[in-house]
Amino acid sequence: MLEIAFAKFSVPKSGVVAIPVAEGAEFSAGAAALDKVLGGALKRAMAAAKFTGKKGSSAAILAPSAAFTRIVLLGLGKEATARPAEELGGALQSALAKEEEVVLLADGLTPDLAAHAALGARLRSYRFDKYRTTEKEDEKPKLKSIKLLVKDAAAASAAYAPLAAIADGVEFTRNLVSEPANVLYPEEFAARTLELKKLGVKVEIFDKKDMEKLGFGSLLCVGWGSARESRMVVMQWLGASGGDKEEGKKKKPKNPVCFVGKGVCFDTGGISIKPAGGMEDMKWDMAGAGTVTGLMAALAGRKAKVDAVGLIGLVENMPSGTAVRPGDVVKSYSGQTIEVINTDAEGRLVLADVLYYAQQRFEPKYMVDLATLTGAIIVGLGHEHAGLFSNSDELAEKLLAAAKTSGEALWRMPLSPVGEIYDKHINSDIADMKNVGNGRAGGSITAAQFLQRFVNGKPWAHLDIAGTAWGSKDTPTIPKGATAFGVRLLDRFVAESFEA
Ligand code: BES
Ligand code: MN
Ligand code: ZN
Repeated sequence: MLEIAFAKFSVPKSGVVAIPVAEGAEFSAGAAALDKVLGGALKRAMAAAKFTGKKGSSAAILAPSAAFTRIVLLGLGKEATARPAEELGGALQSALAKEEEVVLLADGLTPDLAAHAALGARLRSYRFDKYRTTEKEDEKPKLKSIKLLVKDAAAASAAYAPLAAIADGVEFTRNLVSEPANVLYPEEFAARTLELKKLGVKVEIFDKKDMEKLGFGSLLCVGWGSARESRMVVMQWLGASGGDKEEGKKKKPKNPVCFVGKGVCFDTGGISIKPAGGMEDMKWDMAGAGTVTGLMAALAGRKAKVDAVGLIGLVENMPSGTAVRPGDVVKSYSGQTIEVINTDAEGRLVLADVLYYAQQRFEPKYMVDLATLTGAIIVGLGHEHAGLFSNSDELAEKLLAAAKTSGEALWRMPLSPVGEIYDKHINSDIADMKNVGNGRAGGSITAAQFLQRFVNGKPWAHLDIAGTAWGSKDTPTIPKGATAFGVRLLDRFVAESFEA
């Protein structure tokens, strides 16, 4: 893991140095002092490279004196706020990945911005390389530590502490989502959530028998065809009830916020099998559950003042002689019956039982589910926004506000009340409902309508993250692959709605 340290500012005398440059502004005192030591080399390089400090830009200066091997100027842009600072940190990481140690001359950044620059570098440095055995030494990134020289090291460290917990949560999610399905099946996923106990999270694992007793006919039918047993995990962080302390361990959360995740460890489609091309992507069909788990780690890691419960439904959707068939009718935990028309619409079957369980047991103030639920949301919104569906304008507004502050974008989509317009699309001739609409029309909406029938009128929001959970190229702070979309969004939602 990339090491981050903050130290009191002094002008560096040697080594590899990165320097933030705000667009259209003077150098910081530290940068000006270093420029003087180097006989104006920084200013000359800026002019020669036509570098003006634009956000995301950089200019490298090699060996400007015997003491310095490399100096990189990093553009902060015109707006000195958290997001550009993170992008600057990310740019530092990618520009200097081949160095071992780097110093960031951050005397011009506030403690908060310096902390966000560190976060950006940390997030961008993530790599899932446990299965690479033949990569050459000189091809691997070398960067081990970044030392940020700041005016007030104590303040910057304090600002970084909660951000480091968030980065830990994001990495936890990325590790889960990146794993192939032969390694991360429901039982193994459940076992990995036990790691959260160290942070003060109470973790309960429900196996197949437990769920049979409860009557989880909807979730369980998805796993009928698989050799791997299904699981549900319930993770409780009682930060508002003092439940992280010993005496609070037995407490029950009071109207907590519940986060519910789709954890389809692999989605072949089942008997309604998917085409071969791109099916390997369906290893990350558990990203909703991965995000909920990482979010719980982040909240507990920074000791958030909130009672939060994470619930994840873990299954594998496979075709076999025991698999659920199109036309089968199952009975959900809510008592409502479902005609399974398409076995590839399995995520909603999993969430139906977990959502109903969450509201029955915890009487949540809000429920938010995350799911890689529909290909249709990618058709509608691409990879730039996740779809937001909600029966509560108040909750939707809070989530949209958190989307703005976190940079993880949401776009609100339509949802009809139960019994009206879009909801009618999932009426069945034989059961209380069917698991798909009529044809492909409004595919993401009919999926959300299905979920709504299991929230019992409680304030709830559904985030369809099929288009945002996995990235095919690097961004300033997110290397390609698992994005952990939703961890930062919901961390901000908690901060703004429960801790402000
Ligand atoms: N996991 C898929 C949705 C998905 C597709 C996620 C592409 C990420 C990328 C989901 O279980 C699914 O198969 N949905 C079907 C629903 C249809 C059968 C109504 C779909 O989107 O085609
Ligand atoms: Mn599917
Ligand atoms: Zn799926």
